Amino acid sequence: MRTTFSWAKWIANLYRDTHPSHYYYVLAKVLSDDLANTLRTLSLNHLDQRNSLGHVLDVGCGRGQFDFLISLFNNVESLTGVDLDARKIVVANKALACWNIDQPLATPIKFKVGDATALGEGCYDTILLFDVFNTLEHSEQHVILAQLASRLNDGGRLFVRESIRGDGPSVSKWLEPLARKFGTNIGRNMAFPTYEQLCSCVQVAGLEIIAERTSPLLKSRFLTLKKATSHAH
Ligand SMILES: C[S@@+](CC[C@H](N)C(=O)[O-])C[C@H]1O[C@@H](n2cnc3c(N)ncnc32)[C@H](O)[C@@H]1O
Repeated sequence: MRTTFSWAKWIANLYRDTHPSHYYYVLAKVLSDDLANTLRTLSLNHLDQRNSLGHVLDVGCGRGQFDFLISLFNNVESLTGVDLDARKIVVANKALACWNIDQPLATPIKFKVGDATALGEGCYDTILLFDVFNTLEHSEQHVILAQLASRLNDGGRLFVRESIRGDGPSVSKWLEPLARKFGTNIGRNMAFPTYEQLCSCVQVAGLEIIAERTSPLLKSRFLTLKKATSHAH
């Protein structure tokens, strides 16, 4: 997997047993979305001395393409992807069957249907929330980061990617209403937060922003949030 195109094709090929539209969606997404590059270089910029993402939860994982990518390029002990849309979980699980054939010794991954606001039991070292914040009701947006922070182990990381109201036009803000209109994406709401609203949720959750970058193309923000380590007294 030397070039971007060859590993993008390798990931898209995991979707070979699904409708061809998923193969081409994943190929285009991984090639064009700079989240792919950010996730490939996480170990360099965003991790602590463990240099591992540990046990990972991806909330609103969609078809799961970024979960395969993150597992290929980082140390990951286990990964669980959860999404409200059962159709996407079917696609993700078909790709997972190919992953288990193509990478039999790789990270154990599982995908299941679930709601970001009702995740059940379990604690994680890393939680991902990519382009999902805007899909939640305003009342849910206020508490989601705090809910996820409570699921992080000490020193854990929450990676949030979101388009920001007030950051100007962006591809995501333009594509999401179309995806909703044609039924390819679902969500209870479509409300992009202002940067101040997002930061206020970060603060309420007791999290700290340790790195941040804005995508030049999509104009969305990628925040690396850290949960403070609790000290035994
Ligand atoms: C724009 S897509 C992003 C998918 C994936 N995170 C990615 O970056 O490719 C938003 C996803 O959030 C999911 N979603 C919407 N509301 C949700 C909820 N309440 N709980 C879990 N997932 C939800 C949708 O089904 C969709 O797959």
